Amino acid sequence: ALYPVIMAGGSGTRFWPLSRQARPKQFLPLASKHPLLTDTALRLKGLAPVKSTFIVCGPVHAKTALKLVKGLPKANLLVEPVARNTAPAIALAALQVAARDPKGILAVLPSDHHVADVKGFQRTLAEAARIAEGGHIVTLGIKPARPETGYGYIQVGDALEGGGRRVKAFKEKPDLKTAQAYVAGGDYLWNGGIFVFRADVMLEAFRKHMPEMQKGIDALQKAAGKRTFPAVLKRVFPKLPSISIDYGVMEKAENIAVLDGDFGWSDVGSFAAIPEVRPADAQGNVVSGDVVLVDCTNCVVLGDKRTLSVVGMHDVVVVDSGDAVLVVPKDKSQDVRKVVEALKAKK
Ligand code: GDD
Ligand code: MG
Repeated sequence: ALYPVIMAGGSGTRFWPLSRQARPKQFLPLASKHPLLTDTALRLKGLAPVKSTFIVCGPVHAKTALKLVKGLPKANLLVEPVARNTAPAIALAALQVAARDPKGILAVLPSDHHVADVKGFQRTLAEAARIAEGGHIVTLGIKPARPETGYGYIQVGDALEGGGRRVKAFKEKPDLKTAQAYVAGGDYLWNGGIFVFRADVMLEAFRKHMPEMQKGIDALQKAAGKRTFPAVLKRVFPKLPSISIDYGVMEKAENIAVLDGDFGWSDVGSFAAIPEVRPADAQGNVVSGDVVLVDCTNCVVLGDKRTLSVVGMHDVVVVDSGDAVLVVPKDKSQDVRKVVEALKAKK
């Protein structure tokens, strides 16, 4: 059976002032009227029942996450005592699924992405699940549009007999020069951040490539289903290494397959990506709230309750969250994370 696992532990500092500690990017309605997390869950309708869906997140976000995904059983909300990045989060989910169904298939999904073609997404995920049955860790590859340094890159090899293609190499977050060479070379895809694999296959990969997690994994596995589990989790989880699945497993494993993720993928990386996921007007502006624009082109203007007006601006982002305002040229929207750092330093 297929078990979707939604990773909802990120913070999304590039969306300040909309995103705050208590309201990270996945809780914001950036692409539709629903928060990205709700969109992520709704996208699975027909593919897997909500009772087989899991969410992994931190304690501060647990209540909201449960509320945003209708019908999610409370037991399927896996709460990490502390954030330890995606490898430990995925280990926690793989253990839960393995306890129910050792050869069960996990589809690990980011909670903060957008997909334009839901049918295409479901078709690809079903195909990935079929390939994963044979023991591969399946990742979805996206045709690169630019030498983005915030993504993982997949070097694509020959076609596999059971479907998909072999992964020759996986490189997480290369420097700009390397990324440029990858994009020019033509045989690299972006890693979409979606992983499909059998629970036992991933637990074996952790044993092989992240032996530093094994003691913790063994302790959690022994306590699974018992009353002592929460206490063991609280003791063991903080000791796990803080490392992403990309560095911890994907760069090292050999049994990786890639499928083309051709379904209008966007990871909504910053305010500049909003026009990828929300329709713009004839002047290329995307607006929400009580906004008045005069002679503006290609702007992203997100207002709150009060009226927000912008005149004669091009390629800028203006965001009013009620208690804070952000103005930034579109091509600098990655730097919004520095505002959060500066605010933290000020405290
Ligand atoms: N539960 C939990 N705990 N979730 C987490 C944690 C954690 O400690 N850290 C991150 N997440 C969630 C985020 O909320 C997001 O949905 C997902 O896991 C991926 O984490 P990001 O922090 O967004 O990773 P990234 O964007 O730097 O890189 C990943 O995604 C890229 C595509 O968007 C990598 O997989 C790259 O290779 C990939 O290209
Ligand atoms: Mg991300």
